[in-house]
Amino acid sequence: MAKGDGYISAKESRRISRENRKITSQMEKIKNRKHVDPSEYETKMKNPDNILEIDNLHTFFFTDIGTVKSVNGVSFDVPKGKTVGVVGESGCGKSVTSLSIMQLVQRPQGQIVEGSIRFAGEQRCIDIAKATTSVMQEIRGKEISMIFQEPMTSLNPVFRIGMQLNEVLELHHPEMTKEQMKARTLEMLELVGIANSEGVYKMYPHELSGGMRQRVMIAMALCCDPSLIIADEPTTALDVTIQAQILDLLRGLKDKINSSIMLITHDLGVIAEMADYVVVMYAGKVVEKGTAEEIFANPMHPYTLGLLASKPVVNKKVDRLYSIPGKVPNPVNMPDYCYFKDRCEMCVEKCSGQYPEMVKVSDTHYVSCYRYYDEGGVK
Ligand SMILES: Nc1ncnc2c1ncn2[C@@H]1O[C@H](COP(=O)(O)OP(=O)(O)O)[C@@H](O)[C@H]1O
Ligand SMILES: [Mg+2]
Repeated sequence: MAKGDGYISAKESRRISRENRKITSQMEKIKNRKHVDPSEYETKMKNPDNILEIDNLHTFFFTDIGTVKSVNGVSFDVPKGKTVGVVGESGCGKSVTSLSIMQLVQRPQGQIVEGSIRFAGEQRCIDIAKATTSVMQEIRGKEISMIFQEPMTSLNPVFRIGMQLNEVLELHHPEMTKEQMKARTLEMLELVGIANSEGVYKMYPHELSGGMRQRVMIAMALCCDPSLIIADEPTTALDVTIQAQILDLLRGLKDKINSSIMLITHDLGVIAEMADYVVVMYAGKVVEKGTAEEIFANPMHPYTLGLLASKPVVNKKVDRLYSIPGKVPNPVNMPDYCYFKDRCEMCVEKCSGQYPEMVKVSDTHYVSCYRYYDEGGVK
């Protein structure tokens, strides 16, 4: 048994790791099967206007100190052609959600244990949570692509930029000739605002600045015309002026390529500029979601209010910026009651009860907080 907070004995840890291996190796076996009947993972979208529907997603890490419930019942949709902003403090499960969509969660410890991720592919609709590794390899990079936080670690330092972009095309479009690939690569580099595309084509990643590298990453993500782009903190590693340029670029591109964007960030300013819909995450759960207007004009969850209050506003003089007290609870031992309760300054009596269900405020606006249970008859 665990003695006190966070302490476990070596014996206990060995027992956990043995059990974990049993669970994960069974899950891996299912994932790695070669011949699987498509009916196992083919599905239908609930709403044909959505490109992605995440439903009750649970992604856990089976570690030696216990099960880390990184994503613990997340549901939200990404409509076609729209930008959905996912926001929340560091460690609340934003990256694990996006990696789950790509089936890139660190295996074998990390596993999707429950829920579904329905994706409307070109030919068929697939439940990514159930898709096998080989099915996912066809989709990843082609129909769904991802722009990572740190461009330097995502590009291979020993290959030229042109070659790395060509490689993506080669993988997904084997019918293309070498010349066609080069032409397409140059076209993509120009699309993301790289003027000297012929020069950059021959360069190595270290010869480029951070902003240029991020542009190359975006070109790489776009080169197969994906219908969904996941951008995980695409501007966090960049300085402010470059950040503005990259955001402008993404906004401009979205209209040109007509795809949906899932934009992950801890910065509400970025969300305000870019997103049509906002999903607020806290400790592996969605606490509030709605259109950008609803979230910014009528924020409801105390956590959303806290996030908004801790954002600097031009023209408003404050002595000290607000900071939400306390920190995100330990994801190994989550409480039964609302995860935000211990940090919340607006608790009501009911908050000690079960974790609150989502309350519907409007057709698009939902909040998971007891304060709104009886208000105006919404339930
Ligand atoms: N490979 C891993 N093994 C164990 N725990 C992990 C792993 N990756 C992420 N986590 C945990 O999952 C939680 C969510 O992480 P993450 O999704 O990266 O947060 P963020 O919202 O900052 O992107 C964190 O508590 C983190 O410690
Ligand atoms: Mg992250």
